[in-house]
Amino acid sequence: MNSTLMNNFPNIFHKVANRVKEYLIDFSYSIENNKIEKLISSYKKLPCSKINYDKFSMEFNYIYFLVNYWKGAKIAIDEATIVPKKILDLGSGSGAMALSYLSWIHHKIGASNSYVNIELILVDENVYQLNYAKKIFKLVEPLFTNIRCNITFQNCEVKDYLKNDNSFDIILLSHLLTENYKSVTDIFHELENLLDLRGEIIIVERIKDPVWYSIGEALRDLFLTSTIGSKKFNTENLPLISHELFSNIDALRTKYMILKNSSQISKKLLIKKYFDAWKGKSIKDVRRIFTKNAKYYNNLHNDPIVGIEGICEYWNNKVLPQIDPQPSLIRMIDWGDDIFIKWSSKFFLCNEQIHLKGYMIISIDITEGKICQLEECFTKKNN
Ligand SMILES: C[S@@+](CC[C@H](N)C(=O)[O-])C[C@H]1O[C@@H](n2cnc3c(N)ncnc32)[C@H](O)[C@@H]1O
Repeated sequence: MNSTLMNNFPNIFHKVANRVKEYLIDFSYSIENNKIEKLISSYKKLPCSKINYDKFSMEFNYIYFLVNYWKGAKIAIDEATIVPKKILDLGSGSGAMALSYLSWIHHKIGASNSYVNIELILVDENVYQLNYAKKIFKLVEPLFTNIRCNITFQNCEVKDYLKNDNSFDIILLSHLLTENYKSVTDIFHELENLLDLRGEIIIVERIKDPVWYSIGEALRDLFLTSTIGSKKFNTENLPLISHELFSNIDALRTKYMILKNSSQISKKLLIKKYFDAWKGKSIKDVRRIFTKNAKYYNNLHNDPIVGIEGICEYWNNKVLPQIDPQPSLIRMIDWGDDIFIKWSSKFFLCNEQIHLKGYMIISIDITEGKICQLEECFTKKNN
């Protein structure tokens, strides 16, 4: 066997795959062979036209669930770095890719004998697909003894979900874009807003799928850096249904892309988020951009406000009463982990128009990608 193709999957991956296989194997009594043939031939088309999952969900999962699980497993093992708190799986189907990622997290945490809390959201427009996801996750959840997972199954169009005000540190898109190749640009523009500053988007599609061209085009004007690669690995001894279907399946191949905010860009994004939080008067966003123990100096003569609760209270008192705040960034100087900013803002308060100008120094906690200290001073323009 070619050594580069050797299987080297930790035990948890086999346990999960075996449990899912036990469940899927029973489908063989209900599925129709002509439906399997139809599905395989329509899935061979590149890019793929939308599959009618109302009719083909059972067959899709029977043939492809474990194939896609192992592809995701290989990518997670070789490439995953973040143990996330919040995962979004878009076009999740029955959750093969999310399941690969959870298996990797369980394996990664295992060595430390502790556990993590994870929020997982599976989004799919097809209710049959999500129903299979519910059954499969219920079966395998007891295997993840290192994870406390809160799973939400969201039955809706991806574009509708993207309008949500939420953020994630891992966003998965596995074999979704091929069915939506005309909307790739629209999806990416919204996706960027859902990505946490330190987060990663992982895209998986077949190697020769022309959807990769649409993905390349869509990335042009986004603030994201990309890593692209492919994987090929031997399927020998891996629990798969497809062995029984395709006698010649000896290797799985897949292509993937990982997108991140670059460190320079993440500073700019953080500042943008600060001004957006001010403009939108959003305490929720304030919680996202400051560390838990951040210090906030709003007056050069006073002690700082310490901690996120105090900062939120300050914003509640000082920012929320402002009517139609229009903050703008005049100048920004990047200085290591600090950023110097000159800003101005106009708003109404008790029927009076206020015009402020000020300076601030923002210090960034690089590991969290959040503001750990803010010092500011400002003056009001007299009318
Ligand atoms: C090929 S399956 C992939 C499932 C899973 N991610 C995997 O890799 O095994 C594509 C899934 O995306 C869903 N889907 C396709 N377009 C969608 C859209 N615009 N909004 C929500 N779900 C979509 C389909 O219902 C289907 O379950």
